[in-house]
Amino acid sequence: MYYNGKADPLSEHLFNIEGTKWRPLRAQISPTFSSGKLKSMFSTVLDCGNELGEQIEKLRISKGYMNIREMGAHYTTNVIGACFFDLKCNCFENPNNELRRHNRTFFKNGIEKAMRIFALRSFPSLCKLMGVLVIDKEITDFYAKAVKEIFDHRESSEIKKKDFLQLLIDLKNGTNNKRQLLTLQQAAGQCLLFFVAGFETSSLAMSYVFYEIGQDQKMQDKLREEVRRAIKKYDGKITYDGIMEMTYMTQVFTEALRKYPIVPTLERVTVKDYKIPGEDVIIEKGTKVLISVQGIHHDPDYYPDPQKFDPERFSPENKRALHPCAFLTFGEGPRNCPGIRFGVMQTKVAMAIMLKDYRYTVNPKSLNMKLTNKSQLLAPDGEVLINIEKIN
Ligand code: HEM
Repeated sequence: MYYNGKADPLSEHLFNIEGTKWRPLRAQISPTFSSGKLKSMFSTVLDCGNELGEQIEKLRISKGYMNIREMGAHYTTNVIGACFFDLKCNCFENPNNELRRHNRTFFKNGIEKAMRIFALRSFPSLCKLMGVLVIDKEITDFYAKAVKEIFDHRESSEIKKKDFLQLLIDLKNGTNNKRQLLTLQQAAGQCLLFFVAGFETSSLAMSYVFYEIGQDQKMQDKLREEVRRAIKKYDGKITYDGIMEMTYMTQVFTEALRKYPIVPTLERVTVKDYKIPGEDVIIEKGTKVLISVQGIHHDPDYYPDPQKFDPERFSPENKRALHPCAFLTFGEGPRNCPGIRFGVMQTKVAMAIMLKDYRYTVNPKSLNMKLTNKSQLLAPDGEVLINIEKIN
C-alpha cells in the first residue's frame, strides 16, 4: 500500500511496505503471536476482560444498555496496550484519553480524506513526490512523541522483558542478536499499526457478534451453556484451555466475520504475468488487483442464502467442504493477518465474560443496523446499542 518514508515516516510499517523490506520484518514480528506468547498474555487479557465485565454491570444498573462499539474499543485498546506495550490505557475510566481520540479518527473518512486516499491509490508516484500524507499529522506527532518516551523509559530502566516492546527496541538498536531494521520513527509506525490493526477490527467483530446473537436467544443460550460448561470444567475459572475449547463460540465469531468482513477488500500487485485458470484472461505483471472479500462472502455459490446468520456454515464438517479462499476476513497467503489467533482470543475472552451472567437483546434504536461509507473498514453507521439483563 502507499507509504511515504520521507514526509510521513510512520506510514512505513509492516502492512504498507513491499517485498524485500517487508520480508525480514515480518519474520521478526511473527513469533510475537506464537502459542507460547499467546498463553503468556492470557492472564493480562483476562484482567482487561474483568474490567469490561465491571463496566457492563455499571451500565446495566445505570442505563440498562451499552454501546457495544465503544465498550469493545475501550476493551481492545486496553488489551493491546497492556499486552504489547506494557501500558495501562484506562480507557473505561478515561474514554477520551489522547490515545483513544487519535485511534478513533484513524479509520474515519471525511470528503477530504476520501479524496486523499483516492489520489494516493491512483497516482502513488505523484503523491510521493508531492509529500502527500496518508496518516494525519496529529496522529503521527502523538505516536512519535509517545513511543520515544516509552522507549526512553524502558531503555533507561532496569526492566528486562521479552516482549514486543523489547523486540522493537532491539530492532531499532541492533541489540540482542537482532539486525538493525528500524529507525525510531519506523518503530513508532509499527506501534501505530498494532494499535489500529488490533483494536478496531476486534471491537467491530464484537459489535457484529452481539448484534446477531442479540436477535437470536436460542443461539445465545447455546453459547452461554458452552461458556458455563468450560468454566465448570476448569474449577469455576475462565482459562486459556477453556477458551480454546469453546468451539461453538468460534463458529459464531467466524460467521459474524463472514457476514461482515471488517476489511472488505484486499489488495495485491502481480509480480509476474498470471493466467486465470479456466479463463481467457491474463493479469499482467505489475497490475494492482482489488479482491472483493465482501463479494466472495456473499456469493451464494459459496454461502447459500448469504444474508442468513448461520454458524453451522463453520461446523467442522461444513468447514472442511469450503473452498480454501472462501473465507478471507484475515486475508490469505504469506501476507495474511499475523494477529488472527490473538484477535480471536481477545474477542472470545470478552464474549465469555459478557455471556456468563447476562442476556442481551438489540435495543430498538439499533435494529436495522446500516453500514457507513465514512470508514475504511466495514463499520456500522453510528452506535450499536445492546440491552443488558442479569440472569441467575
Ligand atoms: C478480528 C480481528 C482482525 C481482523 C479481521 C484482521 C484483518 C486483517 C487483514 C484483512 C489483514 C490484511 C491481510 C492480507 O492482505 O492478506 C491484516 C493484516 C495485519 N494485521 Fe490483522 N486483523 C485482526 C486482528 C489483528 C490483531 C489483533 C493484530 C495485532 C495486534 C493484527 C495485526 C495485523 C498486522 C501487523 C497486519 C499486517 C501484516 C503484513 O502485511 O505482513 N491484526 N489484518
